[in-house]
Amino acid sequence: MGKVILIASGKGGTGKTVFTANMGAVLAQRGYKVALIDMDMGLRNLDICLGLEDKVVYDVVDVLTGLCRIRQALIRDKRFDSLYVIASPPNGKKADLTPLHMKVLYKKLKKNFDFILIDLPAGLSETVFMSMEGADTAVIVTAPEYAAIRNAEILFEALNERGMTDIKYVLNKVNGDLISSGFLPGVSETVRKLRAEIAGIIHYDDNIHLAANNGLPIVLKKGTYIEKNFNKIADMIIK
Ligand SMILES: Nc1ncnc2c1ncn2[C@@H]1O[C@H](COP(=O)(O)OP(=O)(O)O)[C@@H](O)[C@H]1O
Ligand SMILES: [Mg+2]
Repeated sequence: MGKVILIASGKGGTGKTVFTANMGAVLAQRGYKVALIDMDMGLRNLDICLGLEDKVVYDVVDVLTGLCRIRQALIRDKRFDSLYVIASPPNGKKADLTPLHMKVLYKKLKKNFDFILIDLPAGLSETVFMSMEGADTAVIVTAPEYAAIRNAEILFEALNERGMTDIKYVLNKVNGDLISSGFLPGVSETVRKLRAEIAGIIHYDDNIHLAANNGLPIVLKKGTYIEKNFNKIADMIIK
């Protein structure tokens, strides 16, 4: 039986989509069967991050509304044996979706996949709360900025109030040079503020940014500190 992991953030741009793509790649490299779902409705990004934008025919709304079968919307990433993506719909596509829609989708996917990662929109939206129904765990991706930390805490409370008990943080875009300038919160200060478990810390690295913009999960490059770090974080998340 598979596990549904929400990838969420309070503030936008903290790196949810890049994280989802690379975490999916790491898990698929380990032989797990992985489905990634882009739930950032109207703001499709995950397909670009994986270089699969030319392959999108059906999207998650088509699946949820019964316009197509799940397998028709699953795009296979051929660089892996078992990594699949379902894209989010184009802007303006309307559908009356409910938490039950998500619960049914998860139930079906859990039969065939070990991990289902949900790339969420930032903030506290209906889509986020709807996507919680039937999800097993959540990862809040945040960054060492005062606004991102505050928003991460607010999101944590909101998820927790609605019954999500297994929540971990990932601290992304950590830039040691900027932190030592004294104008940004340091890692230890950030960790102190965030009450849940920290699954890992990811440095700001131009290579991550460039790879994501070129459709390459950076963890494909073996032996780098980035690949090792993502694997360590995966261990923490699936333990
Ligand atoms: N660790 C990192 N180092 C450098 N750039 C990053 C890192 N993580 C994400 N980015 C960049 O930050 C931007 C926002 O990332 P993205 O994953 O789209 O955020 P979100 O999905 O949370 O809005 C993108 O340009 C991405 O390439
Ligand atoms: Mg995103």
